[in-house]
Amino acid sequence: MDVIPPANPVFDKEMEEAAINALRNERFILGESVDKFEEEFSRYIGTKYAVSVSSGTNALHLAFLAANLTVGGEVITVASSYIATSNSVIHANGTPIFCDINDEYLIDINQIPSKITKRTRGIMPVHLYGYPADMDEINEIAQKNNLFVIEDAAQAHGALYKGKMTGTLSEMGCFSFYSTKNMTVCGDGGMVTTNDEKTAETIKLLRNHGQYPKDVHSMIGYTARLNTVNAAIGRVQLKYLPKWIEERRNIAKKYYNLLADTKEIILPPGDTKNKKPSYHLFEIKTKKRDELLKFLKDNGIICLIHYPTPIPYQPIYKKLFGYKEGSFPKSEELSAQAMDLPLFPDLKDDQIKYTSEKIHEFFNR
Ligand SMILES: Cc1ncc(COP(=O)(O)O)c(C=O)c1O
Repeated sequence: MDVIPPANPVFDKEMEEAAINALRNERFILGESVDKFEEEFSRYIGTKYAVSVSSGTNALHLAFLAANLTVGGEVITVASSYIATSNSVIHANGTPIFCDINDEYLIDINQIPSKITKRTRGIMPVHLYGYPADMDEINEIAQKNNLFVIEDAAQAHGALYKGKMTGTLSEMGCFSFYSTKNMTVCGDGGMVTTNDEKTAETIKLLRNHGQYPKDVHSMIGYTARLNTVNAAIGRVQLKYLPKWIEERRNIAKKYYNLLADTKEIILPPGDTKNKKPSYHLFEIKTKKRDELLKFLKDNGIICLIHYPTPIPYQPIYKKLFGYKEGSFPKSEELSAQAMDLPLFPDLKDDQIKYTSEKIHEFFNR
């Protein structure tokens, strides 16, 4: 059996041709493919507008600026995520305030009310691993307290909450097209989705130094545009995304069946009546995580850890905000015990079976 990688980004002939075509025939920056990609992405997600940007981090950063996050304004988010989640608040001159996670590894909504202060401006749930956060409850808290909600949907293209796509469930959804995401632009890229025209216009200005019309700058903006060539590749990837997500769901089902009897591991929460995850990552939890990871690696199965340290315990967050271990026990437990199994659309049945067999073998030794 060849080595099984954790992820396997696709770059095929069709994408290569789209890239070359865009490079030869369009402007490198803000070419036609960018408009088309945005149109097609907004149609897929189900918002009126989608504005592409140069990364998922920039999508969040510009979203906070568009939401008028003021200096020192607090945004309540979650301790267990990729660091870009909360860095983006700091980029926008705000302060991230962390909640611990619930049993679905998502922001614990019960902790949100006690974190609200007079400086709180918004809430940013993260649909981590492609599992939708509890959006109805979050929106209700936000409405009661006059707060904005911005979804970090960087890992959640195609995840469904009560039949609606993540990224449509609040003022703005922010996506990443980093290489290993459910779809990529074969480079860095991101998207902000919204139903509000003014917000979409503001993001468009912010990504292009506040320029409109040419040589007139009405706000301090950034160079944060998505390159035309990446948009052209993204258009092809988007065409296959629904099929890829179905394949991810089928692979997840197979893992559930093959691993259901392994008492030593906790499987991810999976589908519920209201939530249909997109299985960006298939996260398992075990007290023997590090040993299992090594055993699988020795057997040619490469698994990863997302993320070994909760954000507040990163050195810079400790230094800036004085966070101490023990404040987010569930996030700590996840960081210590979670690992993701290989999961990508063309993962073969025999690879899934082999991985599951090796996991059984590890615990039966
Ligand atoms: C949860 C989360 N938020 C934000 C980001 C930032 O996206 P990017 O890497 O495209 O800047 C990522 C991805 O890396 C992510 O996983």
